[in-house]
Amino acid sequence: MKRIAMLCLLLALAAPALAGDEVYRGLGQKQGIAQLVETFVTLLQTDRRVGHSFDEADIPHLKEKLSEQFCVLAGGPCEYTGKTMATIHDGLDITTAQFYALVEDLQIAMERQDIAFRIQNKLLAGLAPMQRDVVTR
Ligand code: HEM
Repeated sequence: MKRIAMLCLLLALAAPALAGDEVYRGLGQKQGIAQLVETFVTLLQTDRRVGHSFDEADIPHLKEKLSEQFCVLAGGPCEYTGKTMATIHDGLDITTAQFYALVEDLQIAMERQDIAFRIQNKLLAGLAPMQRDVVTR
């Protein structure tokens, strides 16, 4: 009986580690993330609330960095090689409303790709703390 209890305890401790890339897999790994970023950035560019912010941006570069960032946040085998959120968004005068517009577009992109609700929420939860570095107005 004691041994079973010990085994259960070990499994419980190991579970979070085993599930470490659950979000990455739920997003469809690198290919799924690349596809998600394609849809997401297209939505951003055509969204009247935020689209103009991206007029001067290097879109292929942005897509690459966003893919890396989502992959890292999802627990995937990637490295983020872009600038910090505070550095890249400094001077862009981004409002809270624009931040939420971006979150909404990401949700729509994830819905279109049939990403499980639980996985969607985990990715969004990873982005939430960035609000203080992105919003400056
Ligand atoms: C959680 C929210 C956000 C995340 C995770 C995010 C992520 C990123 C990343 C990874 C880059 C590229 C970094 C690099 O080139 O090194 C970037 C650039 C950029 N972001 Fe965001 N971003 C967010 C919110 C926003 C919002 C709300 C806006 C505007 C409405 C915005 C506008 C831009 C623009 C215009 C660039 C390109 C800047 C340039 O190339 O100089 N971002 N963002």
